[in-house]
Amino acid sequence: MTNLAAWYFDELKMAGVDFEDVAQVEAFDLKQLSSTPEKEQALVSRLGISSGHTVIDLGAGTGTFAIQTTLAGAFAHAVDISHAMLAYARNKAQKAGATNIHFHRAGFLTYEHTSSLADFVVTKSALHILPDFWKMVAFLRISSMLKPGGHFYLRDVIFSFPPAEYEMSINKWIERAAKPEGEGWTAKDYEMHVRQEYSTFAWIVEGMLQQAGFDILEVNYLSPVTAEYLCKNTA
Ligand SMILES: C[S@@+](CC[C@H](N)C(=O)[O-])C[C@H]1O[C@@H](n2cnc3c(N)ncnc32)[C@H](O)[C@@H]1O
Repeated sequence: MTNLAAWYFDELKMAGVDFEDVAQVEAFDLKQLSSTPEKEQALVSRLGISSGHTVIDLGAGTGTFAIQTTLAGAFAHAVDISHAMLAYARNKAQKAGATNIHFHRAGFLTYEHTSSLADFVVTKSALHILPDFWKMVAFLRISSMLKPGGHFYLRDVIFSFPPAEYEMSINKWIERAAKPEGEGWTAKDYEMHVRQEYSTFAWIVEGMLQQAGFDILEVNYLSPVTAEYLCKNTA
């Protein structure tokens, strides 16, 4: 990583879950029911990722999405700040026979994309690790990695409930943890997310995407606490 100004956010001091802990990485992969090969393959098709495309996955985790893009004929750059995640993802890619994939140990704020501009940048369940100012910086950096007209897909914990209802909405979310729709996550996981990580409101994210030069083509509020965006790079 290049030398950064003293005021720069330190991505290595990760808030929330410690993804450098190998046991946490293995446990995470097992409970990532939103990131099964089948679901990631469906997302690859939905986005229209295919042969000849270059895809950057930021916060790639255990690599399931990046692997599926390569199985569809694309070239993937899987970027993650965690050594343990990258090691796990490399191993998974090898087992899946996915060779068109480069792994990079870097973050939203430090990844330098030096090869050809990407057709797609994707980030799922990772951007919330950055405070809002730094999310904006990340969006500007993402725009600069994309071809003009390239697509950016974002899915994360993003709040679309009315701000005044924050207490009830967060409590409802935490109550879901013990139920099947909680997908193996615990109330403690969600409590830590709200306390220590930086999920924010949809209207803030949408304003920042527009400021970074993205046209928002599609918004889906998947629940009051999760949202997905498909955007086009106009820069
Ligand atoms: C909750 S996981 C999501 C993984 C994957 N995108 C998925 O959908 O399953 C969050 C990932 O973001 C990574 N991460 C944390 N801080 C990061 C940063 N500043 N830049 C890039 N990745 C980061 C973590 O190591 C972890 O692999």
